[in-house]
Amino acid sequence: MPDQAKSPTKGSDILTLTSPPPSFHDNPYPTYARLLSEAPLCQQPDGSMIVSRYADLDAIYRDTTTFISDKKAVFAPKFGANSALYEHHTNSLVFNDPPLHSRVRSVMVGAMNPRALAQLEPGLIALVDTLLDSLSDQQNPDLIEAFAGAIPIEIIGNLLGIPHADRAPLRDWSLAILGALEPALSTQQLARGNAAVTEFEALLRVIIAHRTAHPGDPETDVLTRLIQSEGEALSEIELIQNCIFILNAGHETTTNLIGNALALLDNDRHARAQLIANPDLITTAVDEFLRLESPNQFGNRLTTRDITLHDHNIPAGTDLHLCIGAANRDPRQFDAPDTIKLDRRPNKHLAFAGGQHTCVGLTLARMEGRIAIDRFLKRYPHYILTPGATRGGRIRFRGYASLPASLI
Ligand code: HEM
Repeated sequence: MPDQAKSPTKGSDILTLTSPPPSFHDNPYPTYARLLSEAPLCQQPDGSMIVSRYADLDAIYRDTTTFISDKKAVFAPKFGANSALYEHHTNSLVFNDPPLHSRVRSVMVGAMNPRALAQLEPGLIALVDTLLDSLSDQQNPDLIEAFAGAIPIEIIGNLLGIPHADRAPLRDWSLAILGALEPALSTQQLARGNAAVTEFEALLRVIIAHRTAHPGDPETDVLTRLIQSEGEALSEIELIQNCIFILNAGHETTTNLIGNALALLDNDRHARAQLIANPDLITTAVDEFLRLESPNQFGNRLTTRDITLHDHNIPAGTDLHLCIGAANRDPRQFDAPDTIKLDRRPNKHLAFAGGQHTCVGLTLARMEGRIAIDRFLKRYPHYILTPGATRGGRIRFRGYASLPASLI
C-alpha cells in the first residue's frame, strides 16, 4: 500500500481531539481512514500527537521504557494537584509505571484468578436471564439501561462484594470519573468527577472496614485478597483508588461491548443469521465486535526521550494519543477491516491494549460479552433497533447512552 503520509503538522485539519467534526461521534471511521493513510502522526494544537497505525501502537505498547503511562504532568494542570480526581487517577495502576505498576498489577492479577472468575459465571447467567425476562414486559426497552449497562455493574459489584443496597450510584460515579479523562472538560464535568471520587471513597472505606473484620476466602474473594495485600504490597490509598479503578474500568467498557455488538448485528442481518445458526462462533465473534467497535478508542503514552517516527522528530515529554479505534481497522493489519468476519482468525486486535498494561479484566469482559450476546440472540433473534439511539458523546469511549429496540 503506498504511504501517502503528509507532514504530521498538517494532520490537525483531519482531527483535533478537543473539537472533532460534528459527525465524528456517530461515525469516526472516515476520519480514522484519513489518519491512517494521510497522517499516521497527527499533531494537535497543544503539541500532543495522535498515532493511529496498528504497527506503531503495537511497538509503543511493547516499549515501556520509551513510552510511559505516568500522567502526573498531564493531570496536575487538568484536574489540580490537590483534587480528588488527581489523587484517584495518579494512583490507578493504569497511569503508573514500574515499580508501582508491577506491584499493584501482580496483586490484581492474583486476585482475579481463574477460580474467582469461574465463581462469577453462574450468577452472570442468572442475571442475564432475569434481565432478558424483564425486557419482554417493556415496550421498546432501552437495551443499554435495561440490559447492557445493568450487567457489568452487578458483576463487578459481585466481584468486589459491594452490598446490593450500595450499588445504585456506581454507574453514575463511574461515568463521571472516566468522563473526566475526555480531552475537553467543562467545569461541571470536573466538579462531578471530583464529587464522584470523594463519595466512592467514603463508600469503599466502610466496605473495606467491614471486610477486614469479616474476611472471605482470599482465593476467591477479590476484595479480601486486595485488603490482605495492604501494608505489604498496597498502601491504603492505593487499595481504595484501585478498587475504584476496577469498578470503573470494567463498567462502561463492557456496557459498550454488549451495546455495540447488538447495534452491529442489527445493521448486519447476514452476520446475525450466521451467528444464530452457528452459536459456537460467539467466542471469535466477541473479539470481532471488540475490534470493529472498540469500547476504548484512545489510550495515551508519554515519550521519555526524543524519537523519530514516520521521519518526524518527536521530543521527549510528548503526549501521544494512541488511537485504538483506527489501529483496529488498519488495512495493513486486517483484511477487509470494515467488514464483520465472525470467525476472523488471527484477530490480534488492540481493544485490550498490549504489553505490560494489557487489560487485567479481559477474561471477565469476554465472558460477559459471550454470555450476554449469545443469550440475547437466543431469546430475541428478531430484535430491531428503533429510532432514538443516542451516543455516549465521548471520544475516548465508544458506545451508546441509549439503544431503544423492538423485541418482536
Ligand atoms: C470490553 C471490556 C474492556 C475493554 C475494552 C477494556 C480495555 C482496556 C484497555 C485498552 C486497557 C489498557 C489501558 C492502557 O494502558 O492504556 C485496560 C486496562 C485495564 N483494564 Fe480493561 N477493559 C475492559 C474490561 C475490563 C474489566 C471487566 C476489568 C476488571 C474487572 C478491567 C480492568 C482493567 C485493569 C485493572 C486495567 C489496567 C491494567 C494495567 O494498567 O496494567 N477491564 N482495559
